[in-house]
Amino acid sequence: MPHEQTGSVRPARTPIAVFASGAGTNLQSILDIEQQDPAWPALTALVVSDKPQCEAVRRAKSAHVSVFARDPKDYADKSAYERAVLAELQKRDVEWIVLAGYMRIVSPVLLNAYRGRILNIHPSLLPKFPGRHAVRDALQAGAVQTGVTVHLVDEGVDTGPILAQRAVAVQPGITEEALLERLHEVEHELYPKVIREVLISGSPHSETIVRSGKHE
Ligand code: GRF
Repeated sequence: MPHEQTGSVRPARTPIAVFASGAGTNLQSILDIEQQDPAWPALTALVVSDKPQCEAVRRAKSAHVSVFARDPKDYADKSAYERAVLAELQKRDVEWIVLAGYMRIVSPVLLNAYRGRILNIHPSLLPKFPGRHAVRDALQAGAVQTGVTVHLVDEGVDTGPILAQRAVAVQPGITEEALLERLHEVEHELYPKVIREVLISGSPHSETIVRSGKHE
């Protein structure tokens, strides 16, 4: 909603949908900045979840954001589920999809409708450690560095064009929980930054792309 400001009118915010299946801490970081920063360019028009009971859904509801939370098993197949999601997105003129811990592969129904306009955040320096267990895999591989990647979504699993990365050192002996917590802190700073820059300028600023550490 455009707000009147002294001497200027804030530009309308771009409607986005955030997809989440779990704790929703990245969703929360987006909702918080949306509330606090008048210059934030996005409006979370819808939260989509395949897990109606998850914490992300609770967070969305408590922020009074519209929610579409359905178990995909209640639909004939994946396409039918995604067509239902797509109808909800179109109803709200959603322009970008932001995946934030959404534990499903997006199929062509949504990919074709939102090609180049679906973002994902992943807890590794892709292409290293794609998939569901990126943090555990990095520890098991003995990596001395891992990190966070924001990328555009394509047909593959964590394979789309990379927009921005942050390296995080893996301290010797660190537990999976502690590393995950450190990665989350980085995610909560990096994702809103990239979303802002992509919505305003079409791509992240050069200094956002890789700021610290050399990739292994
Ligand atoms: C994050 O680590 C993100 O990188 C991955 O899923 C996790 C979601 O965490 N895709 P949360 O639900 O936002 O707390």
